[in-house]
Amino acid sequence: MPSSLDARAHRGEAVTAAAAPDAAAGSAVPGTGTGRATAKTILFGEHAVVYGRPAVAVPITAIPVTALARPVEGPASLRSALYHGRLDRIPERLRPTGAAVSAALDAVGRPSSGVAVEVRSEIPAERGLGSSAAVAAAIVTAVSAAFGRTLSADERHELIQIAERAAHGRPSGLDARSVVATGPVWFEDGAATTLAVGGPMTFVLADTGVAGRTREAVAAVRALREERPAHVDALLERLGGLAAQARVALGTGDAASVGAAMDDAHAALDMLGVGDPALDHLVAAARTGGALGAKLTGGGRGGCIVAVARDADHADDLVAHLRAAGSPAAWSTHLEASR
Ligand code: PMV
Repeated sequence: MPSSLDARAHRGEAVTAAAAPDAAAGSAVPGTGTGRATAKTILFGEHAVVYGRPAVAVPITAIPVTALARPVEGPASLRSALYHGRLDRIPERLRPTGAAVSAALDAVGRPSSGVAVEVRSEIPAERGLGSSAAVAAAIVTAVSAAFGRTLSADERHELIQIAERAAHGRPSGLDARSVVATGPVWFEDGAATTLAVGGPMTFVLADTGVAGRTREAVAAVRALREERPAHVDALLERLGGLAAQARVALGTGDAASVGAAMDDAHAALDMLGVGDPALDHLVAAARTGGALGAKLTGGGRGGCIVAVARDADHADDLVAHLRAAGSPAAWSTHLEASR
């Protein structure tokens, strides 16, 4: 059985938890289309997963994005907090969002149809929380539904990956799988399976306030690997090994071991060149706040950290501690034991 997740926002505003059991549920009534996906956090394996190592991620189901789509006469358009206008005039940095709409129109055999797409997202962009993949997932589900098509999970995955390629080159597929998952995910060889959790565990996420730079960080790892292959491959191996260790620790509900593996992963990621002083600052703050371990999450060079709390009450203290240490936004995410 998938584990249930709960996340609470600590930004002075309510986050609406969505009740849909399929995180990417959509309607397939021609003329209207809705799509949904969620934020995610990578617990283990970012960057190493690009080189075939396994990874562990959890969807943050209470931080959702919703897309609405309806066929219209005239050109395709997008309305979101970041842009309102024609799709063919979309700014460069939103190209992945435009690519998601086009990929979905192609998939339903209506490449030149007009469609009005609206995106409502609670996920902060460029924070390593999977915003680009989640927006793409919601859009491809909504647009295909607007033309009467329900996508299979694999079809949907391929379309999200088209948008993700526009975002950062050769994405592993981890984000695309995690933002539509309903529980913790073990990702290996392009496939995601649900991970067993042996006891409740609470994680805290904290934003550095510095934009994450996934594309740049992925390129930096590639460049370093060309320069020092043995050094980088040893780090990637270590990160993959930590994901495997964490899988066992999650399975037995051993939060202390998960935390220790996170500390180790943070050091290895830093040696890969994807760290940032703002990330180190919050990781250190998490540890002084009593976290069982902490690391950067996602592409790095900014974005968020993830830490293991001792329990749900401690997570609240840790959120306050990280906010006091300068984090502009922090959340806690609770993982129940699998039943
Ligand atoms: O920064 P995010 O949330 O897009 O995560 C990127 C994860 C990487 O492993 C660095 C890249 C990938 O394709 O998996």
